[in-house]
Amino acid sequence: METFIITGATGFIGSNLVLKLLRMHSLVDIIGIDNMNDYYDVSLKEYRLKRIEACAAEYPDSRWTFIKGSIADKNLVNKVFQEFKPSIVINLAAQAGVRYSITNPDAYIESNLIGFYNILEACRHSYDNGESGVQHLVYASSSSVYGSNKNVPYSTEDQVDNPVSLYAATKKSNELMAHAYSKLYNIPSTGLRFFTVYGPAGRPDMAYFGFTNKLIKGETIEIFNYGNCKRDFTYIDDIVEGIIKVMQKPPKKQMGEDGLPLPPYAIYNIGNNHPENLLDFVTILQEELIRAGVLPKDYDFEAHKKLVPMQPGDVPITYADTTALERDFGFKPSTSLREGLRKFAQWYKEYYLGK
Ligand SMILES: NC(=O)c1ccc[n+]([C@@H]2O[C@H](COP(=O)([O-])OP(=O)(O)OC[C@H]3O[C@@H](n4cnc5c(N)ncnc54)[C@H](O)[C@@H]3O)[C@@H](O)[C@H]2O)c1
Repeated sequence: METFIITGATGFIGSNLVLKLLRMHSLVDIIGIDNMNDYYDVSLKEYRLKRIEACAAEYPDSRWTFIKGSIADKNLVNKVFQEFKPSIVINLAAQAGVRYSITNPDAYIESNLIGFYNILEACRHSYDNGESGVQHLVYASSSSVYGSNKNVPYSTEDQVDNPVSLYAATKKSNELMAHAYSKLYNIPSTGLRFFTVYGPAGRPDMAYFGFTNKLIKGETIEIFNYGNCKRDFTYIDDIVEGIIKVMQKPPKKQMGEDGLPLPPYAIYNIGNNHPENLLDFVTILQEELIRAGVLPKDYDFEAHKKLVPMQPGDVPITYADTTALERDFGFKPSTSLREGLRKFAQWYKEYYLGK
């Protein structure tokens, strides 16, 4: 039985990953860690946890254990690693969000730096006393590391030393810390730079979700940079498929000419490789909300949108070069925006409107 530790397990991406692993593997031992913080509506995290528990009950030969706690708690992290001895660790727990990092920087240092450091240390000590230890550490990075990079599409070959938010700086720091630990302790690690992930039961702090909440209340939505923003929106199922493909193939351990290990270290973009203009995106969202019956057929969309300037920390475009992902894993996200937003609108209707 393969043992996974998945942090951020009641988060948007984490919960979908757990569900998929339970459904696809005959035997898995999954330990989920999440502090279930109130950065956004906790009931959404509770809903995701309930879905996981219901799913786990359908697969009694596998094991699901939930630990409510913070990865910034070193003793807790060490205890969980020592007790469960994971072979694969997927670190998704983090304080997400670009704008929130301007008003709440402490949360980013605690979860994204101290928390990630604790995970790295626990991976390092998983090899103590000749144990086989962690075979692959996969962790969430972000397209935000590209900052105001001018080269599009964004390639993992690009220099990314100019973050424009603290959030981005912590994600880039994770990549640097992982590199050092891979080199020093031969820990196979892969960082995944996710590009604007969306879908059912997603994050309410993200634009598509916030826009929907506002439109339904008849409020006006603000479209930044006067709509001249492009985002590479990636559907949740594509992200989960990408994580699963990547986690099964750790970077190889190799010796360098100096007799020391070469770092078994990799970074990939996971994005749709097809940026959408923000205005087109809201038009499709609106059409799909009407189609699902979340908004009435005669909704006056024009009266509820306002074009506003760019926000601090934002970037005008995100666009993933996914050549490396395709080359190494034969995989590329493929869900169209309309298809993905349709599923979101349907879920929204069921969850919030009980229809
Ligand atoms: N969703 C996106 O568009 C996107 C894009 C780029 C990168 N990412 C990264 O992917 C990862 C998952 O993102 P998500 O969209 O699922 O976000 P999310 O906020 O839904 O999930 C993160 C989860 O981690 C938990 N958490 C936060 N700090 C913690 C801590 N110290 N200890 C334990 N749990 C903690 C939260 O309670 C939450 O449930 C994050 O690292 C995020 O930065 C997401």
